Amino acid sequence: MDRVTIRAQDEDLVEVPVITGTEGEQALGIAHLRKATGLVTLDPGYGNTAEASSAITFINGEDGILRYRGYPVDQLVEHSSFLEVCFLLDQGELPSPCRLTEFEQEIRGNASLPEGLMTLLEAIPASTHPMQKLAAVVAVMGSYYPGAGGSAGPEGGPAESTILLAKLPVLAAWSYRSGTDGVYIAPRSDLGYASNFLNMMFAPQDGGFEAPEAHIRALEALLLLHADHGQNLSTSAVRLVGSSRAELFSAISAGILALSGPLHGGANQRVVEMLEEILAAGGDTRSFIERAKDRSDPFRLMGFGHRVYKNYDPRAELIKQHAKDLLRERGNPLLETALRLETEALEDEFFIQRGIYPNVDFYSGIIYRAIGFPSKMFTVLFALGRLPGWLAQWREMIDDPYSRIKRPRSIYLGFPRRDFVPIEER
Ligand code: ACO
Repeated sequence: MDRVTIRAQDEDLVEVPVITGTEGEQALGIAHLRKATGLVTLDPGYGNTAEASSAITFINGEDGILRYRGYPVDQLVEHSSFLEVCFLLDQGELPSPCRLTEFEQEIRGNASLPEGLMTLLEAIPASTHPMQKLAAVVAVMGSYYPGAGGSAGPEGGPAESTILLAKLPVLAAWSYRSGTDGVYIAPRSDLGYASNFLNMMFAPQDGGFEAPEAHIRALEALLLLHADHGQNLSTSAVRLVGSSRAELFSAISAGILALSGPLHGGANQRVVEMLEEILAAGGDTRSFIERAKDRSDPFRLMGFGHRVYKNYDPRAELIKQHAKDLLRERGNPLLETALRLETEALEDEFFIQRGIYPNVDFYSGIIYRAIGFPSKMFTVLFALGRLPGWLAQWREMIDDPYSRIKRPRSIYLGFPRRDFVPIEER
């Protein structure tokens, strides 16, 4: 099938092309629908709308498949590092050993923060959520790097994407510590990406901290598994803002804010809060499942359900394994409660019928908590992981000659035309 005819009352309205993706998924190309028929499509929440064609990430939600640039995530998580995947997402190919070393050095060499950004973070009230702090600071970063363009800044300086990848972990750590113990730990060029971040988060002022190898491995894996996920909400926000040709820093700031909501990245914080609530209430998982099923109760099982996956989210499966490796021997009440909740939910008709499974956020917070992160930092960790995806998707959109400013329509259901009523007559 390469064309579909749209008919109304026995009359052909228009013939539209069928676009077929690499993996056989098909879409109606309706770019000229309104011009030809006067009709638009109405698709709340975009459940049936592909907004872009993209060569970055393939997801098949029915079969639980996720690949970056063709490589299955389970292979990447086993063999790759987070920075190697950043390179892959951006460039489309895995780096050679020499190119990877150069890339790692580039990121390390651009990590330090300008004084102004540090002061700005300190000025934001400590009670502000670190996601909002991060978004505020990223939004103004452009002023510190005027002219830092797509591939290189002025006089061969770093590109915007390098600045963001290198500095976001430093900003993230300082967004937390500036509001708590006020200890600033500078980035170290002798540490890898994850171990450097752990050092900035947890090292005391006088040093002497060494992150456990198991924590470094778990954090690398988690960052990698969050690195991209197609046209999810925050990536769509980045593309939407970027489509106006606003600067990249503004688009990424929008992505951070979009990610912060509890139905998206903010769910990882809410999962652990929910598990703690279950434990505090005596560990009765079944009563929470019943609440989630009750249509009169707004409560949902956090970390369950996904727009795309109606099967097990492959990332959740891998993260669950990491959580078990890290915590099983020690006997962790949060993990035990999560495992029990999962088993009971997956046996329940309500969840079976709707294809509701644990998503990426269900087990990640348990690992972050075990590493020692406060729950307010969980979504920040998601943002660090998702940054390379935002950058690659933004670049793909900017470079696409067919990409236009994004401007959905609506179907007006308000009053028909009526005349103005002077204030004294109302
Ligand atoms: N708990 C209870 N019921 C749920 C859940 C849940 N976690 N998720 C979906 N449902 C039910 C809905 O109530 C609805 O039932 P109905 O058909 O009887 O009305 C049905 O399943 C379909 O749910 P929708 O909300 O229509 O699905 P949608 O695709 O719009 O939403 C979402 C997906 C937002 C992720 C939803 O599953 C949810 O709220 N989950 C909890 C929050 C969460 O974990 N978010 C993180 C998602 S992953 C990420 O963004 C990184």
